[in-house]
Amino acid sequence: MAQTKTICFANNKGGSGKSTTCANVGYSLSTLGKKVLLIDADMQMNLTLQFFDDEKSLEMAKGDKNLYIGVVEQKDLTDFVVPTEYENLDLIPSSTLMSGIEFQLFTKWQREFILRQGLKKIKESGKYDYILIDAPPTLGCWVMNIMCASDKLVIPVEASPWGLFGLANMFEFYEQVKLISPSLEILGIAITKASERKNYFKQTVETLSSLDNVRLLSSIIRIDSTVEWSQDNSKPVMAYKRTSRAALEYMEMAKEIMKYADR
Ligand SMILES: Nc1ncnc2c1ncn2[C@@H]1O[C@H](COP(=O)(O)OP(=O)(O)OP(=O)(O)O)[C@@H](O)[C@H]1O
Ligand SMILES: [Mg+2]
Repeated sequence: MAQTKTICFANNKGGSGKSTTCANVGYSLSTLGKKVLLIDADMQMNLTLQFFDDEKSLEMAKGDKNLYIGVVEQKDLTDFVVPTEYENLDLIPSSTLMSGIEFQLFTKWQREFILRQGLKKIKESGKYDYILIDAPPTLGCWVMNIMCASDKLVIPVEASPWGLFGLANMFEFYEQVKLISPSLEILGIAITKASERKNYFKQTVETLSSLDNVRLLSSIIRIDSTVEWSQDNSKPVMAYKRTSRAALEYMEMAKEIMKYADR
């Protein structure tokens, strides 16, 4: 039986590559024979859309088997898991209704731990090696729920001039979460959307590698238009084009994340 590791991908900076990284690391792990559950915790539904077309995603969002309903009704989330077309890879879809989640949590008892409680049976079942959660670009009670349900945090950072802005808020928030969920650890910072030809790429790497007590993952994801094409086709990049640069880089990142997740 697997000892399930739960890893969330969070950064309050929008567009930093959270959903893309969560989807493609998850898919890469599944092709390595690991059992993976992906959880889409963002109202934008990007993780859901990476695996299902618009029509199917909206059908799930409007139905009663999405994460929003499961959390608001404080259900065991086992019943909310849907299989993807890929072996070893399941998903709990999101809903656009997620936009109201903060308001819904407000009146709940122990409101930071609703997601942890909802995932308890899934974790105890040992069915999955990894649960990967895609967080929205916010820092509120819902993201606190996501972090409190996780063992490890990966922070995707876009190698762009504004990519580092707000990272200090992220670390402060993490320290707050540690007060109520002390076992949470930062697995590492993942550089995404990098262009080695640009000066700020070097700067980003230098700044991030000089941070104390935070690991910078050595695997880096560069800009690759195949990523967008794969998303347009509702497929992880490796299933869309196995030999693409992004597919190979995400596989390397998945292996590195696996190495540190199990420590
Ligand atoms: N390696 C890449 N090459 C090219 N485009 C990429 C790459 N990674 C991500 N993108 C694009 O960048 C945009 C932002 O990526 P993504 O949605 O994964 O970020 P996010 O952090 O989840 O955003 P949000 O904060 O809105 O949830 C998307 O349009 C995606 O297609
Ligand atoms: Mg996203």
